[in-house]
Amino acid sequence: MSEAKVVVITGASSGIGKASAELLAKDGAKLVLGARRENILKEIADKIEKLGGQAAYKATDVTDDAQVEELAKLAIEKFGRIDVWINNAGIMPQSVLSEKKIQDWNNMIDINIKGTLYGIGAAIPYMDKQKSGHIINVSSVAGHVAHSGSAVYSATKYAVRAISESLRQEMVDAKNNVRVTVISPGAINTELLSSVTDPEVKAGMEKFYAAYSIPVERVALTIKQAIDLPADAAWNEVIIRPTSQLG
Ligand SMILES: NC(=O)c1ccc[n+]([C@@H]2O[C@H](COP(=O)([O-])OP(=O)(O)OC[C@H]3O[C@@H](n4cnc5c(N)ncnc54)[C@H](OP(=O)(O)O)[C@@H]3O)[C@@H](O)[C@H]2O)c1
Repeated sequence: MSEAKVVVITGASSGIGKASAELLAKDGAKLVLGARRENILKEIADKIEKLGGQAAYKATDVTDDAQVEELAKLAIEKFGRIDVWINNAGIMPQSVLSEKKIQDWNNMIDINIKGTLYGIGAAIPYMDKQKSGHIINVSSVAGHVAHSGSAVYSATKYAVRAISESLRQEMVDAKNNVRVTVISPGAINTELLSSVTDPEVKAGMEKFYAAYSIPVERVALTIKQAIDLPADAAWNEVIIRPTSQLG
């Protein structure tokens, strides 16, 4: 059960992160929320507390290791432990390589890959001491298949899966009972398309998402189910996709 577990979520100000925070809080988990938009984190934390839950928050840019470390410290100060750390913050400014959108490439690498690494680096020392924990990394269907226009986004999401499998094996070697789960969503109705900078790509994606995307609560439920699995077992790889989505 996620009841009473301390759960840290990056990218908690919208979409999958926000929906997961709200669902887990209803189940009794203690939430620690990170993202850049602090005013929205405050609103989410206030709502959770009004409903009788517990939530702390801190403005956190996952591209800055020091800020990610501070988020971990907040969890320890407020709740004394970290049971689950969800590396969810991400952006998806897709475009064809010939456009040479270097700023988008760098931002995706910094947020989607380095942000995940910093989250792992911040959480593992505490989980190691506790001899328990759960790292959940959000990849994508685009982390299983690449297509025209998805090169760098897919590369970052393949990287998340490679990092997760290495981490899983390292945790087995460390005998610290830390579970590792990769959640790879398909088209989910969130704010993610606002990160697409190429107008043509954005228009195409908006059409696709309008036709196929499913509510964000489906992913939140999947994350809760992964957490609720007994501690001697882990879902290591999960694809959660709209029933009607082909690729
Ligand atoms: N929606 C989909 O169809 C889909 C499919 C596959 C995978 N995913 C993955 O799911 C994850 C969540 O995305 P979403 O769909 O929920 O999109 P979203 O609604 O746009 O949420 C993205 C979250 O990431 C945060 N974020 C962005 N840059 C950040 C940074 N530098 N530091 C900290 N937080 C940052 C945003 O908060 P701030 O702007 O406040 O920082 C926001 O809370 C991403 O990793 C995405 O790649 C989504």
